[in-house]
Amino acid sequence: MHLLRVQVPDFRVLKDIDITFEQTFNPTVFPLGSLNGGGKSTLLQLIFVLLHCSAHSERHQFIANMLERVTIPEDENSKLLARFELIDGDEKIELEFTLYNDDYLRQLDIDPIFNKEMVSFGIFPKNERLLSDERSDAEIEQDFYDANIDSDPSLSPREKQAMMKALASGFDKYMEERKKLIATIPPLAKSIYKSLTIRKQHYVTSYSCNDNAIGLLCFSSNANKSTKDIKAILTILSKQVFLSAPPTQIYLFLDESTKKLLFKKRDVKRNRWIDNYESSLDEAKNKLPNFLTFDVFAVDAVISSIEQARNQDFKSFVDTGTNGTRYQKIMAELNLLMQGKKVLPQLDENAAITGIVFKTNDDIEIYPEDLSHGELKRLSIYVWLKSLPKGENIVLMDEIENALHPDWQYQIVRDLVEWGKDNQYILATHSYGLCEALTPAHVKELEPKLIPH
Ligand SMILES: Nc1ncnc2c1ncn2[C@@H]1O[C@H](COP(=O)(O)OP(=O)(O)OP(=O)(O)O)[C@@H](O)[C@H]1O
Ligand SMILES: [Mg+2]
Repeated sequence: MHLLRVQVPDFRVLKDIDITFEQTFNPTVFPLGSLNGGGKSTLLQLIFVLLHCSAHSERHQFIANMLERVTIPEDENSKLLARFELIDGDEKIELEFTLYNDDYLRQLDIDPIFNKEMVSFGIFPKNERLLSDERSDAEIEQDFYDANIDSDPSLSPREKQAMMKALASGFDKYMEERKKLIATIPPLAKSIYKSLTIRKQHYVTSYSCNDNAIGLLCFSSNANKSTKDIKAILTILSKQVFLSAPPTQIYLFLDESTKKLLFKKRDVKRNRWIDNYESSLDEAKNKLPNFLTFDVFAVDAVISSIEQARNQDFKSFVDTGTNGTRYQKIMAELNLLMQGKKVLPQLDENAAITGIVFKTNDDIEIYPEDLSHGELKRLSIYVWLKSLPKGENIVLMDEIENALHPDWQYQIVRDLVEWGKDNQYILATHSYGLCEALTPAHVKELEPKLIPH
């Protein structure tokens, strides 16, 4: 998949954005420039979140976080968020992500047995919760009492018993309410889905803003694309779009409280932050497999790629009787990358790889923690790109030049092409050195534009 064009009429700092990324350009590496605050990171994160998260419900929270305060103008019932043109093989695909309010839904042809007031994007999260609830009646009852009974450990069993008794009628009401919901929400959701399907609008997710429910729908202007096709395209895209950025970056797709952690006051007595932004970021990373922060912990990834190469060689031996050459190849590439430092895996008595060391030309052993920030960053990028699926990926990289010497900033364009030749790269950058490795037409700019050098 190759991203040909992105349009964002109005999202946070981004206004009337319309950028093309020509597939015929060689290489398909596109620096994205602007002054500070021009919206480069915002744009990369918006592209990533929409294309990586839309097809997976467990990632929808990141879309909702990103859109947190985005509203629809009062006199309208929709707002175009982003439009993408992509190309997959020979096929051009157009996707429009648009936000809609409940007024829009209420104009649709929904089964009249449902009260119009109930027709709302707000029912979709409820519907998902109901459909995915696999608890037995006994478990539901237990959860109800657990949630409502005072967990004060000083309460005697008798006092607890009395509380349960008092809550019994509350539980009956709760179950009645639940029964009603089960009888209405899923059929209503089905009826809304049906109307959206007729309009070829694929429901992605919904969120709430100022107590109003807002839905994100995806439409393809390709006349032949049904909602099923759109879902299939989003599923492919979710595997082929990647984002990497510095760990100290503000990620708009994290929840509000996590973003605030970066700016919290320190607990002076204990000399540390009470909550930890990094651990929240790690949690998000677990749910976003295509997201990498450039941190210095590339060693695990290097070890796993050496192990993989060794296992593949062994597999070749088992299958064909001849050992493969992947291990030799990866070691040669790593040695070239480390420019004069020879990479050596460390083995335990069972030949498991436990670490790596680097040997200088003077035979001095250097450990990963002795490498420079720039060396580690280059190593991280190399290993990450090598781990991506083969084929055409859309790779978004923010502040790629940080920690790299100007010569390496220039060189990184050639490196990216060598390390993942079929990928398309979109690089948010301030580096003139990096841009100079390409033609001026490769360089895409957001307002306020870079001042000519
Ligand atoms: N809701 C909003 N509406 C308009 N502008 C906003 C909104 N929220 C944040 N901004 C502005 O968006 C800018 C942040 O944009 P972003 O981080 O994408 O810029 P950038 O080009 O990546 O900058 P840098 O080069 O410094 O990393 C800031 O100037 C911020 O004030
Ligand atoms: Mg930025």
